[in-house]
Amino acid sequence: NSQHHRELMALHKKAADLYHHVLMNTRIGEPALDYLLSRGLTPEIIETFKIGFAPQKRDFLSQVFQNEQVASNLFNESGLFIQRDNGDYLDRFYQRIIFPINDHQGNVIAFSGRLLKTEDFSGKDMPKYLNSPETTLFNKRDTLFNFDKARKEIRKENTVFLFEGFMDVIAAWQAGITNGVASMGTSLTNEQIRHLERVAKELVICYDGDSAGTEATNRAIHLLSDHSRFQLSIVNIPEKLDPDDYLRKYGAESFRELAMHGRETVFGFKMHYHKLSRNMNNEKEQLDYVHQLLNELVLVQSPLERDRYMNQIAQEFQLSIHSLEEQFSQLKGEQR
Ligand code: GTP
Ligand code: MN
Ligand code: MN
Ligand code: MN
Ligand code: MN
Repeated sequence: NSQHHRELMALHKKAADLYHHVLMNTRIGEPALDYLLSRGLTPEIIETFKIGFAPQKRDFLSQVFQNEQVASNLFNESGLFIQRDNGDYLDRFYQRIIFPINDHQGNVIAFSGRLLKTEDFSGKDMPKYLNSPETTLFNKRDTLFNFDKARKEIRKENTVFLFEGFMDVIAAWQAGITNGVASMGTSLTNEQIRHLERVAKELVICYDGDSAGTEATNRAIHLLSDHSRFQLSIVNIPEKLDPDDYLRKYGAESFRELAMHGRETVFGFKMHYHKLSRNMNNEKEQLDYVHQLLNELVLVQSPLERDRYMNQIAQEFQLSIHSLEEQFSQLKGEQR
């Protein structure tokens, strides 16, 4: 079994090297390299993350491995190929930028491939990102992108940044934030939380600023509050940008400032989150909003923090602290 694992890992390592070589040193890789450079990635960062390119040819990788007489059970179990009815193997990844996905020790165990030009494929049933299927090496629920490289800095800072996308992790790394990870394009799992809890006390959610990202942030807050002891904070990326977009638009210095000093508390996030679905010009909706915030306030443990938020709410809606406190005690009683 572990011999088997080693062989599958060797196969992935070889594939990663080949894809990377195609990107860096061949004509076929040029459009992909241009694309990555135009997105602001440096050759060094492409090297660090061993980004690659899978050419259009559907038998690029399968030919190489067939020439090297790789055993057919490895072909099947690697997840890198799709077998046709006539027995031929086709490459799963073609015409995609390739991000190697490492296990937490740094071995390549899977890939994620991004379409070169999403516009060309919109509506054509081609996912923007295609991941390796689950294999004996690759368990999505258990894997965090970049955890192998980020672990040292996460420990040192006692803090981990959680991003939505691989490109966000990579862009943040290039901007000097090297304690970032991403889940595998799905929502965070308890297994992933366990891994992170072992190395950090603080977790900063830094998801996309669009509505999908905001909803995902809200879900992550609840999951993390229920299943971890993390100190949570949230970086709210303005203008519906994602961290990578923001970096390209405003630069590394501005992003670092936002990520280090622009963090908000869970309650701060809730204050704007609960506004999103409401017409705040309507008096009834204003009161609903206040009610909802007081409900959230029951979850805030620190009396100092509670006091501060209570004051903010009172000011914003011209309510007396006294009435807010009264309402708050009622809610607290109900929730007990
Ligand atoms: P760019 O468009 O390259 O900047 O990527 P992004 O990271 O901004 O992508 P997006 O915000 O759309 O999605 C965030 C993450 O969700 C990606 O990094 C992927 O892990 C995942 N994801 C996005 N689209 C797909 C998809 O079509 N299939 C799968 N399996 N995952 C996806
Ligand atoms: Mn190289
Ligand atoms: Mn998104
Ligand atoms: Mn994004
Ligand atoms: Mn993006």
